[in-house]
Amino acid sequence: MTHPLVVVANRLPVDLTVEPDGTPSWQRSPGGLVTAMEPVMRQADAAWVGWPGSPGEAPEPFDADGMHLVPVGLSAQEVADFYEGFSNDTLWPLSHDVISPPVYHRHWWDAYRRVNRRYAEAAAAEASEAGTVWVHDYQLQLVPAMLRELRPDLRIGYFHHIPFPPLELFAQLPWRRQVIEGLLGADLVGFQRSGDAANFLRVVRRWTDLPVRAGTVTVAEPGPERKVRAGSFPISIDSQHFDELSRSPWVRARAAEIRADLGSPEVLLLGVDRLDYTKGIRHRIKAVGELFDEGRLEVPGAALVQVASPSRENVEAYQQLREDVELAVGRINGEHGRIGTQPIHYLHHSYPPEEMAALYRAADVMLVTSLRDGMNLVAKEFVAACVDDAGVLVLSEFTGAADELNGALLVNPHDIDGLKAAVERAVTMDQREVRSRMRRLRRRVLTDDVSRWSRSFLEALGDVDRHVDVPSSTTGNSA
Ligand code: G6P
Repeated sequence: MTHPLVVVANRLPVDLTVEPDGTPSWQRSPGGLVTAMEPVMRQADAAWVGWPGSPGEAPEPFDADGMHLVPVGLSAQEVADFYEGFSNDTLWPLSHDVISPPVYHRHWWDAYRRVNRRYAEAAAAEASEAGTVWVHDYQLQLVPAMLRELRPDLRIGYFHHIPFPPLELFAQLPWRRQVIEGLLGADLVGFQRSGDAANFLRVVRRWTDLPVRAGTVTVAEPGPERKVRAGSFPISIDSQHFDELSRSPWVRARAAEIRADLGSPEVLLLGVDRLDYTKGIRHRIKAVGELFDEGRLEVPGAALVQVASPSRENVEAYQQLREDVELAVGRINGEHGRIGTQPIHYLHHSYPPEEMAALYRAADVMLVTSLRDGMNLVAKEFVAACVDDAGVLVLSEFTGAADELNGALLVNPHDIDGLKAAVERAVTMDQREVRSRMRRLRRRVLTDDVSRWSRSFLEALGDVDRHVDVPSSTTGNSA
């Protein structure tokens, strides 16, 4: 059976893990993409094409949680070359201001092309005649053009969840032209910020001869002349659901229990990230450590809970980050901890949404200090969880969220003194200001939710009425 809407992303929304006794089990995948797309999928007659998260043959398609899931298999070598290599050691650092130096290998590029073709073929097999395929993120930038070649009848959308690099950095990529041509296979190319769309249009102008006008590229070949539009569609979360979850008696009780287990600190700071060098975790811990050193934060009055969920653990830059973070946390706890109490509670785990909601509710101050971040949905989850308006969001200027979340305390995480001052200001802010800022933030996050985002994207793709039943609409801004 084919589907009128097919979502293609590197990962399925669930990961396959095999227990020590050999039984398979499925767990929710990490990251913002899955957080955003899950609720969209539940409302549509759609299939999701993606990798089940471990190497080997693809399992048969199956249904889970109201979604039809179509696994794509990657061999161990392809995981190393396509996923850990080209996607996460070339494109990821290149797209995040080269915080870690991107590595360029020709055999990684070959794997990227080969695996992109496999996803394109899988999507082509799932989509109904004249259906819509929505391709997601940097791992699959060649899929739009490959898919168009296989199925010219389809309407193809592509959304880039991470920053699109400025021309001066994108220029480094030896395969920059092929990547641009891959993306131009789509009818609509969506980005988080208008600046990302502008970066994309600039590289199109620079490395193709195609005419670009008012956010639209005219493509003449292959096939009939087509228009490709580029625009910004800032992503969000299922805010209503998160708000309701956070109001549940279980979450409320669990939040109180967390605070009690931490020794009832007066001030609880929280950081929640994938353990990724883009998230500014080192900068955050340095700033908090210095505040303890200087007595501006004190044990047991204040504590930081840092959730750092495991991510891309075979990539060297991530291994190095883990060592640095754990060394810094150990040093600060050794210096300032006492028996039964410590300044930093570091948790190298992933947690289900209920536990996250409880942590957000328990916290007084949320620290989002990314050095570069496409959007940062953790910031939006925190806001949606602050149902009693009591919480301060400290937010890096270098996140997509900073463009929207008026009410946060904005920081430059490279400026450690500025970051320390912002944390101190958050901790000592009077309750009237805390509430008025949080109310502003909540209005925004509860209104601009993920269904509005997906609707605006699909509407701009010219498609929404056919397949997706979502209330209210906005149209993305063209760059
Ligand atoms: C970010 C990316 C996603 C990715 C997620 C988790 O949110 O935009 O494409 O899936 O991180 O990373 P991983 O490498 O574990 O899929």
